[in-house]
Formats: sequence, structure tokens, C-alpha cells
Amino acid sequence: MNIDDVILQHLYDNIGNFVPGVEICREAEVSRIAIWNRIKGLRKMGFNIESKKGVGYKLVEKGKNIIIPFEIRNRLFTDVIGKRIEHYRFTSSTMDEAENLIKAGCPQGTVVIADEQYRGRGRRGKEWFSPQGNNIYLSVILFPEYLSMECGILIMFMGSIAIVKTLSDYGIDAKIKWPNDCMVDGKKMGGVLMETTSEGEFIKNIVLGFGININQDEFPHSLKDIGISAVAKVKHKIDRVDIITRLLYYLEELYLSLGKGGREKILDLWKGYSDTIGRKVVVDAGNRVIEGEAKDIDECGFLLVETNRVLKKITCRESLRYI
Ligand code: BTN
Repeated sequence: MNIDDVILQHLYDNIGNFVPGVEICREAEVSRIAIWNRIKGLRKMGFNIESKKGVGYKLVEKGKNIIIPFEIRNRLFTDVIGKRIEHYRFTSSTMDEAENLIKAGCPQGTVVIADEQYRGRGRRGKEWFSPQGNNIYLSVILFPEYLSMECGILIMFMGSIAIVKTLSDYGIDAKIKWPNDCMVDGKKMGGVLMETTSEGEFIKNIVLGFGININQDEFPHSLKDIGISAVAKVKHKIDRVDIITRLLYYLEELYLSLGKGGREKILDLWKGYSDTIGRKVVVDAGNRVIEGEAKDIDECGFLLVETNRVLKKITCRESLRYI
């Protein structure tokens, strides 16, 4: 446990009562001044902690909407995903941090979260709007066994299904637009970015990045008409820790089912939540433009678009628009 975790554990165990600073020092094996400095840090994060000279520290109430590992871990009900959580107040991208953690030998299920990203990225090289404090920027590290590169898209589907299920717990009816845009009222509330490394024909590791607009009141001009936040639908601020714990739970449920014949279930869920099947679409893949009707997805998750009575396979690297 790091110092913050030790302090918070003591304070949570004695919530509403003073805990002598010396007790925390002993357990954390650091000086009083180090504890005091961390208390100031925890206050900055939003914890309401009182201090009384010669008495100690008191947590007045549980932290609200503070996405630090201690808070998440306390409320997490998963076995694999989130057993290790790394938190950054400010980073380039949780995808970059995840990559470094993989190189350093982190375990499967490691979760990386950030309060703010200065180079958040989306699919197809797009920027992901990542201002401080309101939304969810999170990456999950997975080491799937014997999943061919070709079927990696199933993992990406799991990501968007997990987002839709999470939002539905809040009464938000999100739909998935090919391949993984989580749309509400025709605007984007969340997205999933998948970055993989392969060994031969199999996937060695996956970083699955989630961006979900939660409490963002305002969007920059360029995103105003295409982005939407959960707060706009539920009309009150949402506890991001609750969103994260639900998201990780749904993701783990799907991920663990994959090895037990869950592939069909994932494809069916994706189809059920998607509003792409049955729509007239234009796929712009750079080197080809396909116009037709989105008919179905195949067993590996490729989208099948019918054009001139021929079914064409669309990969997850290709985006489309509805017509
Ligand atoms: C998309 O284009 O729809 C995917 C967006 C994914 C954004 C998330 S935010 C957390 C993680 N870090 C990033 O830089 N991107 C992903």
C-alpha cells in the first residue's frame, strides 16, 4: 500500500472520528511531516479531512467522485480486472502509460486511469477531448489466450457493450454505431480504442481504452453538435467511481465468458445494442468507398455490407456514416 492508501484506510476505518497521526506514521513508516503533506494532497483531491493539533485527523465523510485507486478498489467486485490500478492526475494518454506498464511486466487486468490527458487519442488518429476532472479516461490491459488477430475485434465489442450496459444502469439508452461508438440521441457519449501487440497469428496483449463523457457540461465548439455527456441525460452529477466499477464488472463478465464459448453471446449482444444493422451506410476506407445496407456481422465480427447483391466485409479500422 502507498502512503495515501494507508492514510485513507485508517480514516475510513474510523470515519467521523479522529485518528492519532502517530498511528498512521507507524503503519506507513514515514514521518509526521510526510503524513501532513499527503493529507494536504488528499484534501486537494476533494477529501474532507479535519485536523486537530495533538489529536489527529478525521475524515468527515466518504470521498465523492474521487477516482483514486483506494476509492475504486473499495467498491470493486471483480476478480481479475482492476486488481492493480494506476492513477495519474495528468498524463499524455492512459494508452501510453499502459504500454509502459506492460513493458515493466504488469499483471493482466491492470487498469490505468487519469483525471486529465494532454494527448488523449481516439480511433483513426483522432484527438480525444480529455479535460480535467469530469469524464472517464481509462485503459485496461489484457493478455487473452489464443485469440487470433482476426478476432480481436470481439474484445473491442466487449468494451462498447460494457459501456452501454453501464449507461443503461443510469437509465441512459445508448446504441452502438459501428464499430464501437456509444451514441445517445445521435451524439457520441463514449468510445473504445484498442491497441494490440501480436505474436505470430495470436494477440499477445491488448490495451483497451475507454473514453466516456460523464459530467462534462460544455464541449468546445467543434464537438458541440457531435458530443454528449451522461449528465445531460440524468440531470445530476454522476459518481465516476460508480461508473468505473460497473464498467469493469461488465467488461470482466464478458471477458471471462470468451474462453467458455461466450463468442456467440458477445456477437449477439453487440447486434442487440447496435443501431447499424439494417441501416443504409457509406463506408469510407480511404482506398475504397462502399455504399450499401449493413446486413449483419460475421463470426469474427466483420460488418457485412450488401452492395449490388454482394456482401462486403468491413473491418473495425473502417468507419461509416448513415445515409
Ligand atoms: C474513439 O475514438 O471512439 C475511442 C476513444 C478512446 C479514448 C480513450 S480515453 C482513455 C484512453 N486513452 C486515450 O488516449 N484514448 C483512450
